[in-house]
Amino acid sequence: MNWNPRFAQRTALMRRSTIRELLKLAAQPGIISFAAGLPPAEFFPVEEFRAATEAVLRSRPERALQYGETGGEAELRDWIAERASQPDRPMRRENVLITTGSQQALDLVGRVFLDPGDVVLVENPTYLAALTAWRPCGVEFAPLAMDEGGLLIGELDRADAPPAKLLYSVPNFQNPTGVTLQAGRRRQLVAWSRATGIPLVEDNPYGELRYEGEALPHLLDLDREGPGIGEEAGQVIHLGTFSKTLAPGLRVGWVVAPRPVIDKLTLAKQSMDLHTSTLCQHVALELARDGVLERHLPRLRAVCGGRRDVMLRALKEHMPSGVTWNRPEGGMFLFLRLPESINATTLLTAALTHGVAFVPGEDFHATGGGHNTLRLNFTGNSDERIGEGIRRLAATLAEAV
Ligand SMILES: Cc1ncc(COP(=O)(O)O)c(C=O)c1O
Repeated sequence: MNWNPRFAQRTALMRRSTIRELLKLAAQPGIISFAAGLPPAEFFPVEEFRAATEAVLRSRPERALQYGETGGEAELRDWIAERASQPDRPMRRENVLITTGSQQALDLVGRVFLDPGDVVLVENPTYLAALTAWRPCGVEFAPLAMDEGGLLIGELDRADAPPAKLLYSVPNFQNPTGVTLQAGRRRQLVAWSRATGIPLVEDNPYGELRYEGEALPHLLDLDREGPGIGEEAGQVIHLGTFSKTLAPGLRVGWVVAPRPVIDKLTLAKQSMDLHTSTLCQHVALELARDGVLERHLPRLRAVCGGRRDVMLRALKEHMPSGVTWNRPEGGMFLFLRLPESINATTLLTAALTHGVAFVPGEDFHATGGGHNTLRLNFTGNSDERIGEGIRRLAATLAEAV
């Protein structure tokens, strides 16, 4: 049977990335991989998970194992709403939807907002799986240039900028660059969104992983300083997740947004998976409400921040001249720029033979470019492996140069 004519047209837009195919090789033993965005597995709070699961099954098994509401378990939504609230501007349960990771929230945003031909403004480069989630909707991406302070606000008002449906941003320790959007630009972005009526999708998986400097206000917070409060007001669709703070295997994320947005996203989710695992939601709630998360975060920040420093030192020691990189204040990634003459995808093939892997930057660029850039994850390997992996990368580069 030839299945191809049977598939829906939109599946033609679901592309397997050549880089992902290449990176399957990175899973081989002996390879030090800086490719995937993995949290440090040795520091998962395993005992705390065990205790929380036991507590849930002891205290409320009939809820944790039953079907639940599509919107999510009420207490977890309340906990998230409370954390998103400001003293005079409360958020309510009705402003929160629990999702199966924030990746599902991205998919839901696509289903609810995006028609074929719509333009989505994205940082350049941006999170690859947002592009792959929205491409099948038949949208066009309009990439916005960035510098070390995040997206350039001047780009928004370019005369040739097409009218957009949404703007997508990862303001904190962006994936893939590690760059943080400056405070002033956050205010300008929210003001622009109000003036144009173009909503902002704020994706914030890394915000809690800050290793230095002051926390900056979320776009969601700035939006709520403006006129009009209540469940309906606002321009920002804010995505959060426990993936980077507790464990990605939990698959619990959330959306905080004006109520009409939450209502539509909930309808879309209903036919997708009915609801996010009730058991996982209750375990997450137990860990969050019990203070485990608050106690775990400083330890996690110390480990991840330490690994960032190890990678920065190793880069300084081993990289040949002509290679530059940034110093992210948090998160999991830093971004390397190679000499123009080097193609990072070609380099990856050579790097794999040297026993090291990374993600070439090209795929994160919505409309091409970035051939001489690459992303390194600094949280998923021990200090020793980071040092050895960077030595191998430098040796690969020395050959290529
Ligand atoms: C920017 C960004 N958004 C969303 C996600 C998806 O996270 P989750 O595990 O919550 O689905 C990731 C994961 O790496 C990410 O980097």
